[in-house]
Amino acid sequence: MSQNFPKLKNDLFLRALKGEKVERPPVWMMRQAGRYLPQYMELRKKYSFFERVETPELACEITIQPIDELEPDAAIIFSDILTVPQALNIDVELVPGKGPVMGNPIQNEDDAFAVIAEDVAEKLDHVMKAITLTRMELNGRVPLIGFAGAPWTLFCYMVQGEGSRNFDKAKAFLYQHPDASRHVMKELTKATIDYLQAQIRAGAQTVQIFDSWAGILSPDDFNEWALPYLMEITGAIKEVPVILFAKGAWYALERLSFKSGASALGIDWVISPEFAREKTRNSITLQGNFDPTQLLAPIPEIEKKAKRMIQRFGTQRYIANLGHGILPNIPVDHARAFVDTVKNYGK
Ligand code: CP3
Repeated sequence: MSQNFPKLKNDLFLRALKGEKVERPPVWMMRQAGRYLPQYMELRKKYSFFERVETPELACEITIQPIDELEPDAAIIFSDILTVPQALNIDVELVPGKGPVMGNPIQNEDDAFAVIAEDVAEKLDHVMKAITLTRMELNGRVPLIGFAGAPWTLFCYMVQGEGSRNFDKAKAFLYQHPDASRHVMKELTKATIDYLQAQIRAGAQTVQIFDSWAGILSPDDFNEWALPYLMEITGAIKEVPVILFAKGAWYALERLSFKSGASALGIDWVISPEFAREKTRNSITLQGNFDPTQLLAPIPEIEKKAKRMIQRFGTQRYIANLGHGILPNIPVDHARAFVDTVKNYGK
């Protein structure tokens, strides 16, 4: 790595990822930079979503906002998983109140075979610049996480053309055009490896792969359409720990923990800590799994539930987090109660 970054002062998160002994579990929250923070809403008034993502100074400022406000043990770069489809020539717009919309989704085999992973890291150089700048600005306070969407989840958006409850068009495309779908998955896998390796060179100290829509696949379809590509990506990343978050894929925990080569698995709240530990035979770091909606409970309840979560996962090989992204309507004090409960655990 060519950069000379400031020395890391808090390595709790990296130690938990390596399975080393920790004084208490580290804590961060998925989507911790976002709409529940008033300082984010101020910037949101002035710049569009992709202006914020594509301007390294803004992405850096937004990444550090939750670190200043809540002092969790890790930062995650402000960006989006849909940057990779953009680099593959899919137009993505974020429509307020609706979510992402693709102007030219994949509608037929020709569209699918036209997806070619080329110069992905170069096209997304703004993300690398944001990562390097953020590493400098964080000044070693906490490690910085890079991320990407998993091929299956990106495929969902690229074919469906928008968010959906069941991604019926994307699933239908798999079954109707398996060869064309496999082509897209392979190109997405190549693009993702290229992208994550560039993020690591730019300064990302861990990477997380979001397979947010794993849970809409049957176990057999997950094995065919998601798992091989996830494993290819984790197998290609040797330099930093990899966190795999395959939401809803409770049935795959055993395989993900023994075969994927990941350092940690993200767990959603539909799985009990005991089930997750049993399936992974205590062999891997687990991250999660507070139900984000429970952050709307009164603060004493949040404290009780967060303590109970830690007791059940145990303090070692564990990273406290939510089971999915924080919601826009969570009061900042409630998010702080969650983070502080973990930080004060055992004191
Ligand atoms: O976690 C972080 O703080 C880092 C930033 C981050 C964002 N998106 C910023 C964002 C991360 C890690 C993501 C990942 C992402 N993006 C996923 C996987 C994680 C998950 O939640 O399952 C997915 C599926 C997306 C695609 C996406 N981007 C959707 C569906 C939406 C709209 C839904 C929503 O929350 O509004 C986005 C927009 C988005 N990405 C916002 C943020 C802060 C909201 C933008 C805004 O309205 O200001």
